[in-house]
Amino acid sequence: MSKKEIEHRIQTLSKEIEEHNHRYYVLDKPSISDFEFDKLLEELIQLEKEHPEFLKEDSPSQRVGGAITKVFKSVKHKYPMLSLSNSYSEEDIQDFDRRVREGLGMGEDLFSGSGVEYVCELKFDGLSIGLTYEQGQLLQAVTRGDGVQGDDVTTNVKTIRSVPLRLSGSFPERFEIRGEIFLPRKVFDDINREREDIGEAPLANPRNAASGTMKMQDSAVVASRKLDCYLYHLLGENLDYEGHYESLEAAKTWGFKISEHVKLCRGIEEVLKYIHHWEEKRFKLPFDIDGIVIKVNNYKQQRHLGFTAKSPRWAIAYKYKAEQVSTELLSIAYQVGRTGAITPVANLKPVHLGGTTVKRASLHNADIIEKLDVRVGDHVFVEKGGEIIPKIVAVDLSKRKPGAHKTHYITHCPECGTELKRSEGEAAHFCPNQNFCPPQVKGRIEHFVSRRAMNIDSLGAETIEQLYEAGLIKSMADLYDLKKEDLLPLERMAEKSAQNLMDGIQASKNVPFERVLFALGIRHVGETTAKKLAKKFRSLDAMMKASRETLLEADEVGEVIAESLLEFFSNEQNQELIKRLQHKGLTFELHESQIKAGSEKLKGFSIVISGVFTRHSRDELKELIELHGGKNSGSISGKTSFVLAGENMGPEKLKKAQSLGVKLITEEEFEKLIQ
Ligand code: IVH
Repeated sequence: MSKKEIEHRIQTLSKEIEEHNHRYYVLDKPSISDFEFDKLLEELIQLEKEHPEFLKEDSPSQRVGGAITKVFKSVKHKYPMLSLSNSYSEEDIQDFDRRVREGLGMGEDLFSGSGVEYVCELKFDGLSIGLTYEQGQLLQAVTRGDGVQGDDVTTNVKTIRSVPLRLSGSFPERFEIRGEIFLPRKVFDDINREREDIGEAPLANPRNAASGTMKMQDSAVVASRKLDCYLYHLLGENLDYEGHYESLEAAKTWGFKISEHVKLCRGIEEVLKYIHHWEEKRFKLPFDIDGIVIKVNNYKQQRHLGFTAKSPRWAIAYKYKAEQVSTELLSIAYQVGRTGAITPVANLKPVHLGGTTVKRASLHNADIIEKLDVRVGDHVFVEKGGEIIPKIVAVDLSKRKPGAHKTHYITHCPECGTELKRSEGEAAHFCPNQNFCPPQVKGRIEHFVSRRAMNIDSLGAETIEQLYEAGLIKSMADLYDLKKEDLLPLERMAEKSAQNLMDGIQASKNVPFERVLFALGIRHVGETTAKKLAKKFRSLDAMMKASRETLLEADEVGEVIAESLLEFFSNEQNQELIKRLQHKGLTFELHESQIKAGSEKLKGFSIVISGVFTRHSRDELKELIELHGGKNSGSISGKTSFVLAGENMGPEKLKKAQSLGVKLITEEEFEKLIQ
């Protein structure tokens, strides 16, 4: 392909990929398979890598992330980000309507049947964001901050697939659109399941998870979190619309994700209907809302009503009260998780709450039980908040039976009888009997065989239970001693499924090192950390010999992970387990093809990369510098060894390099240097 053709192909691919993104993430109507989509994206990324001169800031390849934001720049909002006043009852809403009508000079008698036109919307429970577009391109994304100024999180927001990087149709030259970034409930549950897998405390709720994610420095991690964004407020000079509803309709045609539940209501009665409709239905939404927002539709009327110091007079939020019921606490059970953490669970007399029947509620930990002073036989108030599992919020002391026994938290593991421990600063008790406590052993084996670990997909939780009960497996290493004859006597185990299982176990020996490392279930070592560790140490033996300092040198490894690794490797039973797994032929080192040969050729060199390159991407060059012992630096100073200069190096940098006498070398010269 000629340069012109390549440029054209990149443009076509970008457009096509963005259209598919829009179909998938905004319209929820994909027209190609994930596989086909990935192929298109791969082709684009490859072409841009080979021809970085054609890489545009709004290319869909930017959505996979990778750029790091060290410090989020503080930006003043062009229009302050106000909040809404809250209301909690029908009367509050009636009062709001009265104030609006009075403000607009619509007397009681004028209001006969027709009423004010309101727009009702869901109140998304996430973090607010302001997106500025200029000439149809996303220019900047800023968080709410204190309402006057917020953080520039553009790089992170670009990874959200439903946020258009480039608009279609005819849109204003420059405008801001505000909305809410949130984490869909399913994604939140998946993240927490993964965190639990590696023994990390679960995130409290989707809102905290979303705002925590936006503050992350590594946009690749943000991209992996699968955030979503609904837009609900268009701002700009000379907007050519009569009202809010029309503006949202227009924004929808430019590519923004506008909720399908926005409703134009005539008069307050229709508003109340909308509120009641969502009171129950909200639990069926795939994301959390904490209420409804009601806005006067007409722009002229909005202007007439104006603002108080804190919020617009033309809008109000209606907050749903968390629904509460009272029921009897029948017993308290204590569950033991894969990592040994104990969770107390309340068994309740079944009761109807928020559209479902509730039989159990989480009691979280010993402190909460102590604080609530909850006792078996008590009547307790149960509430459904954002979380799926309802929680006990209080005890109805007026109904406490005389002689009800104070709850004493268990001191020993209900599964294996070992005395429980509690680490300083941690809320949960845990059972330290890692290697013999049945739910911990079974849980670890389940993790070991899971899809993203050893991927022995013919081995589900039920079969693990059977094998464990039959005394055939007591650790993951025992899987590799299984014989087909052992399996056949098991219930529901036919010849074919036994063979599948044997084949799956055999095939797992080829699973690459980083996944084996993840499969071991070392606390705090998730998939990404396992990859980084594998890349740095290349073999388990090298990793086991590493000192704390050397462990800390690996990307992503801080004190907590280093400590966890040292503890895991110093445990004799773990050493024994690793020996057995090594003996069985599992992969405990990187494959040759995964290793790029490094050297010390650039040791002591501080190198600045500047300009556009033809043979490598900037990230590749950075990686090469590190691979050969050099240091990447962002700015030219007297300490700079040389500037690796591509085409179109910035004039300021060039001047600085010349004035300090720093040498410039080309990409070809650099290649020779490290050969
Ligand atoms: S409109 C001036 N609409 O609720 C009007 N806000 O307490 C500004 N929110 O800061 C907001 N869903 O983060 C609006 N459909 C919606 C909303 C919404 C959620 C959030 C937003 C705002 C807060 C106000």
